[in-house]
Amino acid sequence: MSETVSLARLVVLISGSGSNLQALLDACQDGRLPARVAAVVSNRRDAYGLVRAQQASVPTLYFPLKPYSDQGLPRETYDRDLAALISCFQPDLIVCAGWMQVLTPIFITPFADCLINLHPALPGQFPGTHAIERAFAAYQAGEIEVSGAMVHGVVPEVDAGPVLDFVVVPFDPRDQFHDFAKRLHAHEHTLLVRAVQRWLATRPQRRDFYS
Ligand code: GRF
Repeated sequence: MSETVSLARLVVLISGSGSNLQALLDACQDGRLPARVAAVVSNRRDAYGLVRAQQASVPTLYFPLKPYSDQGLPRETYDRDLAALISCFQPDLIVCAGWMQVLTPIFITPFADCLINLHPALPGQFPGTHAIERAFAAYQAGEIEVSGAMVHGVVPEVDAGPVLDFVVVPFDPRDQFHDFAKRLHAHEHTLLVRAVQRWLATRPQRRDFYS
């Protein structure tokens, strides 16, 4: 008789290409992650990650902010509805993997212990958009010698919060921006899978996880 293994349910939030989503899908598929992606949510219709999800037979949801802002509704109304929709998928863990939209406390609070974000810079560095570009510019200005990426618990402050895992990515003097960005993205894919593995492995004690 085969043993039933309970797979954690991931909901992945994306806004773009979804290469990090793909890393999670692959890791679920080949057993590196004892999980399955229960749904992928995008705030952008043309996000290629939606195609990746469909190719993996994962349910998708396109949920844009614009109809709310067009009606003059506050961000909190969108975030409340987003939280309600995501709850329907009964996530064990929500992963922001290239989700390019600030989350407000009305979303964060109910998921505080099961909501993580990938940021393409080291802890405390370059919060917000274009982090890789800004890190590269800082390197060129002689201000930093390494950058990296981190996965952290989500708090209202953008790209801050308790660090779950990170990777240091050194600059190479031969790097053009695209060389560095490509290398950084490859590290992100490994980091994100490792961070989710870690999160799942420590799930029973996760309230004490972040130190
Ligand atoms: C990643 O670099 C992520 O860290 C950043 O946006 C990018 C998303 O890439 N926030 P992808 O959509 O996973 O390919």
